[in-house]
Amino acid sequence: MAHRAAPSSAPRHIAIIMDGNGRWATRRGLPRVAGHREGARAVRRTVEAAIEQGIGWLTLFAFSSENWRRPAEEVTDLTGLLRHYLRSELNELAEAGVRLRVIGERDRFGPAVQQELADAEVRTEANTTLNLVIALSYGARAEIAAAARRIAEAAKAGRLEPASIDEAGFAAHLATAGMPDPDLVIRTSGEQRLSNFLLWQAAYAELIFDDVLWPDFGAANLAGAIAEYTRRERRFGARPAHTGAARPEASR
Ligand code: IPE
Ligand code: IPE
Ligand code: MG
Repeated sequence: MAHRAAPSSAPRHIAIIMDGNGRWATRRGLPRVAGHREGARAVRRTVEAAIEQGIGWLTLFAFSSENWRRPAEEVTDLTGLLRHYLRSELNELAEAGVRLRVIGERDRFGPAVQQELADAEVRTEANTTLNLVIALSYGARAEIAAAARRIAEAAKAGRLEPASIDEAGFAAHLATAGMPDPDLVIRTSGEQRLSNFLLWQAAYAELIFDDVLWPDFGAANLAGAIAEYTRRERRFGARPAHTGAARPEASR
């Protein structure tokens, strides 16, 4: 017998794998950079929509550790667009109450980019309307390995007892320390994989794959994903929520 799903409340943290810029451009006979440029407009729309929807946390996967393998020209285009985005949007983001944070191997970018990222974080650090996290040169395995390295160093220095390492203690060494786990991960462009995104944090996230190419993503897609999320029943390994007589043991 099918269980009636207990609807989840609105997601607190939405993470998006923004994919399909290249295909968007190719389908129009345009260079890939045109897709990335249009993708930046979709970021703007999505941030606005997230604020309107009252979402507390939005993480956007903008550039993966593996994306460095792309031709130098595309990497340069992407870095240039990122700087352009920061310069043109920062005032509005700051005024809208957005707090911007970056996760990823930022030291792989040049000093000027690193400085601009740090400035944007400092400038918006008191904001509370929307926490916007940009994953840049981000890879979950590298993040987890870095956390293990820091923990091992602390143990070696006698600052940490190996037996005391638990899930929460481990998570405190990740780039996302202090942030809530994503409730919902959306990937655009029809690809159904995580591509090394938030592997630890998304352990119990609901996954939604939307065929829309990222440059075409907007408020309606975000609202649709949130609606789908609220229809899903999250169980976290426990028994399904019943509406009938038998109560799940966890609630006794
Ligand atoms: C997403 O679009 C942007 C980045 C990964 C930087 P893609 O550039 O991956 O576009 P497709 O997947 O080739 O269409
Ligand atoms: C994932 O997209 C990374 C970002 C969206 C930034 P990719 O296009 O790089 O992923 P794969 O190569 O299709 O797995
Ligand atoms: Mg892609």
